[in-house]
Amino acid sequence: MRMYDIIEKKRDGLEISYEEIQFFIKGYCEGTIPDYQVSALLMAVFIRGMNEKETAFLTEIMANSGDQIDLTPIEGIKVDKHSTGGVGDKTTLVLAPIVAALGVPVAKMSGRGLGHTGGTIDKLESIPGFKTSLSMGEFIEQVKDVGIAVAGQTGNLVPADKKLYALRDVTATVNNISLIASSIMSKKIASGANKIVLDVKTGSGAFMKTMEDSIALAKAMVDIGERVGRETAAIVTDMDIPLGNAIGNALEVMEAMDTLKGKGPKDLEEVSLNIAAKMLELAGLGSYEECRRLSSRAIENGSALAKFTQMIEKQGGDSAVTGNYSLFGNASVIYEFVSPIEGYIEKMKTDLLGTASVILGAGRETKESAIDPLAGIILSKKTGMHVKKGEVIIRLYTNDSGKIAEAVKVLERAVHIGAKPPQERPLILAYIDKKGITVN
Ligand code: URA
Repeated sequence: MRMYDIIEKKRDGLEISYEEIQFFIKGYCEGTIPDYQVSALLMAVFIRGMNEKETAFLTEIMANSGDQIDLTPIEGIKVDKHSTGGVGDKTTLVLAPIVAALGVPVAKMSGRGLGHTGGTIDKLESIPGFKTSLSMGEFIEQVKDVGIAVAGQTGNLVPADKKLYALRDVTATVNNISLIASSIMSKKIASGANKIVLDVKTGSGAFMKTMEDSIALAKAMVDIGERVGRETAAIVTDMDIPLGNAIGNALEVMEAMDTLKGKGPKDLEEVSLNIAAKMLELAGLGSYEECRRLSSRAIENGSALAKFTQMIEKQGGDSAVTGNYSLFGNASVIYEFVSPIEGYIEKMKTDLLGTASVILGAGRETKESAIDPLAGIILSKKTGMHVKKGEVIIRLYTNDSGKIAEAVKVLERAVHIGAKPPQERPLILAYIDKKGITVN
């Protein structure tokens, strides 16, 4: 079998077989197939697509490319959660402590930033001392001990995705339904949870820009989960506007902490509570509405924040940051992006806000790039709000003043100001599970 022939087949829009997918995944993991050939195949898949059968094969082969985690030493129903990726999407940092505070174990493996979107692991690493790399034993013991651990992919978990994810990030091959579904579901299957909740983002800041594509992605993932016997539910949530106001690693952790203190942005709180409720419902804590109420209470009574603090301590971080944000450090350059005219913010192209944040240092330009944990942006104004001429819309934070001009150019394309505010759309747009699709 030759990689050249597989690329050619997919380039011409033909179906590739189980054996061919296995050949390329195995060869890539073992280093016998180089990045440039896999890049070419990814681009062919991106353009030509993969059918349901190919996607299921790819998911299974990826899930089997490394270790499978056995979570049975942890008592109780383990419910995992995954987001398809968004801008300012720090819901894991809010909902994981909520769920754990309510007694449902959270054994969560998260990823790094991808394309214009951020990743939970990069965010957590902005906490001084926080260790995201845990051995399997440490990971399991921590969940047994304090009920929560959020770590990078531990051990040899889905090595195929580790390599493909990093390559897709720098080859413009992220936003494809089959590639996203197989990436996410292979990790969820190998991670060993009994049940899975997926937060499928939709809109200009998401990989899926339309409701149609987002529902198709959600359905593809629910089908894969149910096929392998894991109850899977998906919630489609709005990503036409960034979630909360902060984009960038330390900035987002601070905002998540504010939310756990009950004083965060309402949109972030709302989406986090909904996903937490779905996880708790699958864990058997009651109806969705009851679980929503329990989640709100975990914020009000401080138990969720206490759980987050406990996790930071357990993973070697300085938990004093929860009370003193200056311990994160400060970016050396702050720049104010102001409105050139008076009007309403009609639209914010959310992916471009993510790109501006990456340019400032919050994400990676190449696989090898280092991240600046303090870089990013804070939105003072969001879609629908009124702005006066000269009023600050966005504050930019970086340690590299040379990046400001390029980021500002992107922001100029991202922010659209007009005479009228746009129509609001709901934050929670649809629910998908094995029973069907409910659109809000
Ligand atoms: N999140 C993932 O884990 N994989 C993707 O491909 C996209 C988002």
